[in-house]
Amino acid sequence: MRTQYCGDLRESHVGQAVTLAGWVHRRRDHGGVIFVDLRDRSGIVQVVFDPEAAEAFHAAEGVRSEYVLSVQGLVRPRPEGTANPEMATGQVEVLGQALTVLNRAETPPFQLDEEDVNEETRLRYRYVDLRRPEMQRRLRLRAAITRTLRRFLDEQDFIEVETPMLTRATPEGARDYLVPSRTHPGEFFALPQSPQLFKQLLMMGGTDRYYQVVRCFRDEDLRADRQPEFTQLDIETSFMDEAEITGLMERMVRELFTQVLEAPLPSPIPRMTYREAMARYGSDRPDLRNPLELTELTDLMRDVDFKVFAQAAADPRGRVAALRAPGGAALPRSQIDEYGRFVGVYGAKGLAYIKVNEKARGREGLQSPIVKFLSDAVLEAVLTRTGAEDGDVLFFGADRASVVNEALGALRLRVGEDLGLVEHGWRPLWVVDFPMFERDEKEGRWYATHHPFTAPKADGPEEVGADPGNLLSRAYDLVLNGTEVGGGSIRIHREEMQKAVFQVLGIGEEEAKEKFGFLLTALRYGTPPHGGIAFGLDRLVMLMIGAPSIREVIAFPKTQTAACPLTSAPAPVEALQLRELGIRVLTPPPA
Ligand code: AMO
Ligand code: AMP
Repeated sequence: MRTQYCGDLRESHVGQAVTLAGWVHRRRDHGGVIFVDLRDRSGIVQVVFDPEAAEAFHAAEGVRSEYVLSVQGLVRPRPEGTANPEMATGQVEVLGQALTVLNRAETPPFQLDEEDVNEETRLRYRYVDLRRPEMQRRLRLRAAITRTLRRFLDEQDFIEVETPMLTRATPEGARDYLVPSRTHPGEFFALPQSPQLFKQLLMMGGTDRYYQVVRCFRDEDLRADRQPEFTQLDIETSFMDEAEITGLMERMVRELFTQVLEAPLPSPIPRMTYREAMARYGSDRPDLRNPLELTELTDLMRDVDFKVFAQAAADPRGRVAALRAPGGAALPRSQIDEYGRFVGVYGAKGLAYIKVNEKARGREGLQSPIVKFLSDAVLEAVLTRTGAEDGDVLFFGADRASVVNEALGALRLRVGEDLGLVEHGWRPLWVVDFPMFERDEKEGRWYATHHPFTAPKADGPEEVGADPGNLLSRAYDLVLNGTEVGGGSIRIHREEMQKAVFQVLGIGEEEAKEKFGFLLTALRYGTPPHGGIAFGLDRLVMLMIGAPSIREVIAFPKTQTAACPLTSAPAPVEALQLRELGIRVLTPPPA
């Protein structure tokens, strides 16, 4: 139906007869001539209809935004002075000779070049939204990214294997999406939170190098970088240790950035232990484009008069730390108060600060609600350790370490942005040596930091239960500009070790047999050492495209409340369907 795409026309096409097909981006009547900007996937070209081609001109009078047209015409240079350097096709236009309306359109719910359209509306009319050149660019880049990753893995002899969507609960820490079984009344499938156990079973099955571009499902609170269904590039290998796996993955990611963005990544990608990341950045996914760092003060504050600091410093789980903001002494009081409210969201009970006006004048040169509680020696040490200069402000956090890390970690990002300190470019980082277990104090039990199949850094199962709080795991995360884009680990490949880990997690013999019996059994039949990783493909694409949320790089995403405004899913079902499934609904949806 077409000879060319609209956006491809250039001066080299001048004189050619073309047939185009697309949507009316805009129509303008210019006393006697009608301009139609015709748009397709490739871009926009200007079509001119003049009354000499009477039939086409008349048809053009009737077209409206988003009508679907077929246009025949002649490519010609734009008249002197009317070229548009902003448009790729801006040197030429098409003199329209015939026009067929293939379909009419109602007035669209928003103009395609309108900014700040409400997201709910964009998602409800996603098929209109997707016509925007920016959205087409994103879909195309996403496909290029996936293609490049696949090609790399294919070349490395990985094979793509599909794993079940209807399966059992896979413990990745979120709630499951459940699917009732009709043939087994009262029983449910769970949609996979990841193919974790299946990829391990593939290693047990001798597959050696597996990958899959795969949908994962997690019922969790949504954020800009979280969706209830999202895509992983899931990878598993046998007989490779962590250095070999992360090395190979580094090559893959580096090739991806070179091929798709022509952006070189550092080689090798730096590594940092979890402990160091928390100490310096208050986060296990530090954004290294931001130069600000936290300074440890816990040891200094044990005996100070300021109770808030002394108490936190004396608590074995407490922390006192400072964040130095260069030039921050100029911040008005109102801004500092605002930061105080900001850290409050993360549980901080206050935000003590010291404005360093003039160091040489000793405590006279400092402006702060807390210096009166600190001795000269402590003040001196604080200034030295933080490297404070005249004109800086120091912010303090004192609380349980987890609160201080979250609060000052978030403040670090905020202040870095506000002071314009964040560099451009790509700053990847491997974070390693994660703790194997984390304790939920309220519930008084241990959780696996990664997942329960991750191997601990332990020589034998007897070491696992001895001191769970200090045990490290063989997990690694790839962090890019402050986003966790991938995570993986070396897995447990011996039954005794797996049982020891389940034991710490409070998964008893019976429960282990019931939930993971198939895995424990499989471990007995010759399991090779194995390990792998999964990349959050949506997150990677979001970063590479520079999109503000993963919803912008998913064709049909869900809203913040995990719903689809386009199809109105989720939705009630017929009573008959429920009866067949043996299900009674206790809270019917609002009518
Ligand atoms: P993990 O749970 O760390 O590991 O997930 C791997 C990567 O998937 C991305 N991700 C998400 N992206 C969008 N929305 C979500 N709700 C979401 N949750 C996670 C992140 C994350 O780094 N089976 C293990 C991998 C392994 O051990 O090999 C796993 O799923 O970018
Ligand atoms: P107060 O003595 O309660 O007025 O607190 C003095 C200063 O310490 C104020 O600037 C508070 O914001 C700050 N502050 C209070 N609690 C904390 C805390 N847990 N961490 C950091 N600063 C705090």
